[in-house]
Amino acid sequence: MDKFLVRGGRPLHGKIEISGAKNSALPCLAATLLSEETVTLHNVPYVKDLITQRRLLEDLGATVLTPELRTHKVNARGVQVFEAPYELVKTMRASVLALGPLLARFGQAKVSLPGGCAIGTRPIDLHLRAFEQLGAVVSLESGDVVARAPKGRLTGAEVEFEKVTVTGTENVMMAASLADGRTTIRNAACEPEIDDLAELLNKMGARIRGAGTTEITIDGVETLGGAEHTIIPDRIETGTFLVAAAITGGEIEVKGCGPEHLGAVIAKLREAGVEIDELNQSTLLVRRSSAGLKACDVVTEPHPLFPTDMQAQYMALMTQAEGTSTIVETIFENRFMHASELVRLGADIQIHGNTAVVTGPSRLMGAKIQASDLRASASLVLAALCAEGETLIDRVYHIDRGYETIVRKLRSLGADIERITESPA
Ligand code: EPZ
Repeated sequence: MDKFLVRGGRPLHGKIEISGAKNSALPCLAATLLSEETVTLHNVPYVKDLITQRRLLEDLGATVLTPELRTHKVNARGVQVFEAPYELVKTMRASVLALGPLLARFGQAKVSLPGGCAIGTRPIDLHLRAFEQLGAVVSLESGDVVARAPKGRLTGAEVEFEKVTVTGTENVMMAASLADGRTTIRNAACEPEIDDLAELLNKMGARIRGAGTTEITIDGVETLGGAEHTIIPDRIETGTFLVAAAITGGEIEVKGCGPEHLGAVIAKLREAGVEIDELNQSTLLVRRSSAGLKACDVVTEPHPLFPTDMQAQYMALMTQAEGTSTIVETIFENRFMHASELVRLGADIQIHGNTAVVTGPSRLMGAKIQASDLRASASLVLAALCAEGETLIDRVYHIDRGYETIVRKLRSLGADIERITESPA
């Protein structure tokens, strides 16, 4: 299992390019299953989850060509398998995004029910209920979700999610694209990745309106064609590097990002004493203000409010802020596992249910710590960059799922970080 060895205390300076959004590339790759024509996706991030998603498409019978590392040309004409096996789904929950497209195009789909993960039980009941409203018959058979469209095609319906679900909204949008008639999704997720997926689907010939708002209308069509699309920048990677500049006391120019997707994060960081200048529509210049960091409370909420995927990184920053801040996690039931590892570095964090109380600034000292999930591992790297001495972070395979070449990018900014790969023996 790889580890990161970090020698902290060095302010980061320089420029980095943001990669494509993992959480947009995953549904967009799934959407290629809806068509017999070639769909070309640019700016696909080179991260573990996308390698897994590509393997899933190929296991189903699609062909995936990568003329360049971050360009995927997918043709799903040859798909003859309609099943996502447990071996794949257990490594990446986003495999459930194959359900909607397979059901819509082939009238059948079988996907292993994803287990929970470190941050929560993460059920998909809302996805399945929505498919039933679209006319599917859904059953659980030996741990697999088996879905069929008795009439061969789904039928448009009124779907109202009782909770905002990002991949649930994406799954239904894809399924409804080939259904008979109109589907309306109410209480839809509004994340930028939803809008990006809808843009791709409409390029393929779908008729989707309202993506990015809480009410989305989809008028089903007979077939979907090919398209070419560029994935939006990763807003969570962007937010992570904004925190990296602030927590190390350096200055970073973050290029190729989408500031319009990060309104709540930029506002909260500015409130906490981070200076963020928008040099142009895709470049941010960020540094800690000379007045230092100030403790500011935050609550995670669905977009456009503060994203849960930035909660762990923000907690690391608050360990260096003057005063006491409360961080309330409202999306997932177990997303504070980074807190105990930050405490091992010397942070002062108390957990009370879904609220973390952080008192700073704390002097962080290097130690051996362990990553538990994707965004927790980013939080630990940020804290290690700020800690005095050496920090050894174990289980960094988590970070490889969603951050492209994170060691190379950090080293280009002057970080003293190296990956230690243990021999299989
Ligand atoms: C997406 O997960 C993201 N993943 C997550 O990013 C992100 O944290 C999450 O949305 C929230 O923004 C991808 O897009 C691939 P949800 P998703 O369905 O869709 C409950 C990362 O770090 N729920 O919006 O799985 C669920 O348990 C990852 O990049 C149900 O109860 O999240 C959670 O409490 C982590 N039933 C809440 O809703 C359902 O059927 C929001 O989940 C579906 C969800």
